[in-house]
Amino acid sequence: MIEESQPGPGETPPALAVSGLAKRFDDVQAVDGADFIVRPGEVFGFLGPNGAGKTTTIKLLTGLARPDAGSIAYFGADFTRRLKAAQHLFGVVADGNNLYPELTGRENLEFCAALYGIGRAEARNRVEELLERFGLDYAAGRRFGGYSRGMGRRLCIAAALVHRPRLLFLDEPTTGIDVPNAREIRRMLAGLAADGTTIFLTTHYIEEAERLCDRVAFIVAGRIVRQAAVEKLLDGARDRRIIELQLDTAPEPLLSALSEHFPTNRWEPRAGKRLRLISTAEIELAPPVAFLAERGAAVLEARRLRPSLEEVFVEVTGLAAERLSAEKGGRRG
Ligand SMILES: Nc1ncnc2c1ncn2[C@@H]1O[C@H](COP(=O)(O)OP(=O)(O)O)[C@@H](O)[C@H]1O
Ligand SMILES: [Mg+2]
Repeated sequence: MIEESQPGPGETPPALAVSGLAKRFDDVQAVDGADFIVRPGEVFGFLGPNGAGKTTTIKLLTGLARPDAGSIAYFGADFTRRLKAAQHLFGVVADGNNLYPELTGRENLEFCAALYGIGRAEARNRVEELLERFGLDYAAGRRFGGYSRGMGRRLCIAAALVHRPRLLFLDEPTTGIDVPNAREIRRMLAGLAADGTTIFLTTHYIEEAERLCDRVAFIVAGRIVRQAAVEKLLDGARDRRIIELQLDTAPEPLLSALSEHFPTNRWEPRAGKRLRLISTAEIELAPPVAFLAERGAAVLEARRLRPSLEEVFVEVTGLAAERLSAEKGGRRG
């Protein structure tokens, strides 16, 4: 179900082109023939619930795991069988903080620079620049082990940029990070993208993808089920009206009566005694409010919601939105 084809001859090659990528672990087909492209300079969101195959895909693309099948090209050159040779092109921020706890922030970055063979003087410049850019200069002399999660994640992103890669992979960069740090990380990623770095980001936070990404691919059970520009996905959802009602009682017992009485609307119960009313036509509120009141459910509040990627995701995948957005506590799969 890929909507966008590869560019023709003469056009800029994609930053990353993946075709038929597959990986099986014993009885699990973790990645099941994934095809997608990432364009140069874009923020590409790789969305899917826990266990969908996001981390495995990043590992396959960066040489940390070996694909069973498929091809991988970076910036127009095939690297399928020689991913080591592509290491200078990309940086990777894994889904945990993986630097040395006993080294300071600055020493960790200098160590990464040395791994890439960057000379001392140049390394020092880059490290100071990154520490400043990521708001960590004040903590540069502290042991990494003493960093908060948010600071740690920022240092991991800085470490992945020491060799100035053209493409940055981030695996759930804001999962388990407090709100101010998560916001700061998103701001930094947007800044990197504005400076021309291509960003490949996995997330199960739909709002994050909506805010940050130019295009997204939805992955479910190792398969890409949709790939498109965020704007285009939202355009398709814009002719839909969504009204969320706050009730004083749980809506579930009334659902079948509502669907029967108002068949042109879709009714979706939500947590917290909320009920969504979805329609492609203008919604008249008085009749359902009266209908609910007659059955002992008072409507305390009604508000119109903007269509979001969440609806698109639910529509495209048939997955309950809760599977994605209930993860907000910061669990990781
Ligand atoms: N090393 C492994 N051995 C066995 N199964 C694995 C391994 N890594 C991942 N899996 C399985 O592959 C599937 C995809 O996992 P993963 O790529 O981590 O998903 P995501 O990052 O989207 O949560 C899951 O069913 C997971 O349990
Ligand atoms: Mg993962």
